[in-house]
Amino acid sequence: MKYTKAWLLTMLFAVMLVISITSHSNPLQAVSSVGKDTLTLITSPDYPPYEFYDTKGGDRQIVGFDIDIANTLAKELGFKLKVMESDFNGLIPALQANRADFVMAGMTPTPERQKNVDFSIIYYEAKDTIVAPKNSNLKQPKDLSGKKVGVQLGTIQEQNAQKIAQKVAGIQLKQLNKVPEVVQEIKSGRIDAAIVEDTVAKGFAQANPDLEFNVIPSEEASGSAIAFPKDSSLVEPFNKVLQQMKDKGELAKLATKWFSQNVAVDTPSSNKGGLNLDFSRILPDIPFILRGIPLTLLFTLLSVSLGLIWGTVLSLLKITGIKPLTWLANAYTSVFRGTPLLLQLALVYYATPQLTGYDISALEAGVLTFTLNSGAYMSETIRGGIQAVDKGQSEAALSMGVPYWLMMWDVILPQALKNILPALVNETIGLLKDSALVSTIGVVEILRSAQIVGANKYIYFEPLLFAGLIYYVLVMGLTFGASALERRLRQSE
Ligand code: ARG
Repeated sequence: MKYTKAWLLTMLFAVMLVISITSHSNPLQAVSSVGKDTLTLITSPDYPPYEFYDTKGGDRQIVGFDIDIANTLAKELGFKLKVMESDFNGLIPALQANRADFVMAGMTPTPERQKNVDFSIIYYEAKDTIVAPKNSNLKQPKDLSGKKVGVQLGTIQEQNAQKIAQKVAGIQLKQLNKVPEVVQEIKSGRIDAAIVEDTVAKGFAQANPDLEFNVIPSEEASGSAIAFPKDSSLVEPFNKVLQQMKDKGELAKLATKWFSQNVAVDTPSSNKGGLNLDFSRILPDIPFILRGIPLTLLFTLLSVSLGLIWGTVLSLLKITGIKPLTWLANAYTSVFRGTPLLLQLALVYYATPQLTGYDISALEAGVLTFTLNSGAYMSETIRGGIQAVDKGQSEAALSMGVPYWLMMWDVILPQALKNILPALVNETIGLLKDSALVSTIGVVEILRSAQIVGANKYIYFEPLLFAGLIYYVLVMGLTFGASALERRLRQSE
């Protein structure tokens, strides 16, 4: 009993400690236009050589053609630059939510986008290509008849593919979040081809010799421009500097630097059937993936502790016997258990700035959602635990004049917690693994780090398998730790 309370207090203390640490220095804070002196760029770094992660030496740095240009622009205009990331289809929403000052992501101005954001002048022209396995003879749009074609969600490649599908019969589209995923789908034969911009396709074809790409002859090229929130005062100064860079040939120079080089990937293992995994290709990136661990742990610790507190409150509401409170707590639980966690996460992350004006960081949104969600689950477990404690105890305490809340805190809760420890461990394991979901809103935890490495190396399995191994080891550690704790609690009885 002594131990259970000590445990509760330690947990509380840990939460407070972590909160105070994270509020002071949160490396992943999603602040937009921090001060007047810093501009925030948001990009989708799955697009080498425009933007991708340089993972050498365990650093997580986004580099590429766009980033070089952004750096020059910021410098010329006297700003510091901060780079954030999201999936491509989250970029414009990020501008609308005022999460960033501008987007550079090889983004093409289209009429629909122009309704929502403002664009700079075009700084680079590219063409679409069809990427397909060598010898598949899928070279022109008409060859795609009856084929499955992959595109990145929310891009003009998606739109262009839809246009082609109107003319060519039987095309089935598959939209994915990231370009490397699209390429992987071709390699695994789940789609027949993909539509990808030329410079990007070139890199993937170099890294995967079993693929080839052919430019689609089309009326319009897809130029890249910078996107800003509507009526941003940055458009004009940015255009001026861009024009200067064009005139002085600086843009052309950067284009040569990034687009004509051979992509810096090691030669991939040949793809001649069989399971040819080659972990040596990700060796240099292992430190990078490992750096996701502290964040995953921090995230889990925070969500579990706060969820436990919140769950306890809810469970107490459920057993008060005060009807409206019970009803509220039950309604809450049913909503949070009745909708997907991923959906809750997206809602909290994207809706909070719009509804409250508070620019919630991805990490905060994650912790908040997971706390709200796991509180709902835990409240049921804790309620069960409380009700399982022998009635005689509360009666005895109350008859001795111990106030209700003190009796709960001192007598009932510690026993209930001890009984439900295994269930709490289950919940923690669940949260640890579900933490991978926050990768979808751009927190670079373990899964996201692995995906980044995959995108960089144009490979897929190896980093994911490695990430799986890390999760497994963490869960095992947790399991052992929990059984040790349980043993000690039993002994202290
Ligand atoms: N140019 C295309 C578009 O504007 C694709 C850009 C994709 N960019 C990226 N970073 N994934 O829709």
